Amino acid sequence: MPDPEELITMEQIAQGLFRLLVPFEELTTTVYVALCPTGVALIDAATTRYDAEQLILPALRESGIAPTDVRYLLLTHDHGDHAGGAPYLLEHLPHATLRCPFDSPLSAAAPLFDGEVVAERLQTVHLPGHTAHSVGFLDLPTRTLLSGDCLQLGGVGKYRSGITRPDDYRISVHRLMDMELSRIVAAHEYDPLGSIAEGTDAVRNYLTTCLSFLPDQI
Ligand SMILES: [Fe+2]
Repeated sequence: MPDPEELITMEQIAQGLFRLLVPFEELTTTVYVALCPTGVALIDAATTRYDAEQLILPALRESGIAPTDVRYLLLTHDHGDHAGGAPYLLEHLPHATLRCPFDSPLSAAAPLFDGEVVAERLQTVHLPGHTAHSVGFLDLPTRTLLSGDCLQLGGVGKYRSGITRPDDYRISVHRLMDMELSRIVAAHEYDPLGSIAEGTDAVRNYLTTCLSFLPDQI
């Protein structure tokens, strides 16, 4: 049984859009929940079987979302704190399709493509830099970018900055600067601005701050 103090709750981000903050080491990682016209979509899956069965599924049920309501499990990238819980979640989600921007060892996985709109709500945005394949999802009705780990600011916790491809990262941030965004929601509490930028001015500042942590010559 989970420690009652560890039980998590859905936090509303915008209309029809929520997040679950799931403990991960001394940090948290994020599972986003979108209520889409064609069913519920989960974006990312936290880390472990415990996360899936004892934290995520109970939090969904608490909010009135049954496992059979979930039609999509989308992953932003293949790191363990985002994709690790996926096989355990899928055991309980009989109607969910798994979509990933990388070659998944899970046989049920189908690819995701840049620009593709999933569930009539979530547009896939390829944003390499953290990894080569990392994607964010643009929530079209609210112009909210669910950035996962694509935007690192100055890094997080002991991991610090997770930019493995700085030249790609710079291009990705500039791509976002050219998009109409009302909000950014990252997967971790990145230093120094945290996980949420609310409003166009804050979005611009968030993106500019991401660039400020890159060496000038790149
Ligand atoms: Fe990551």
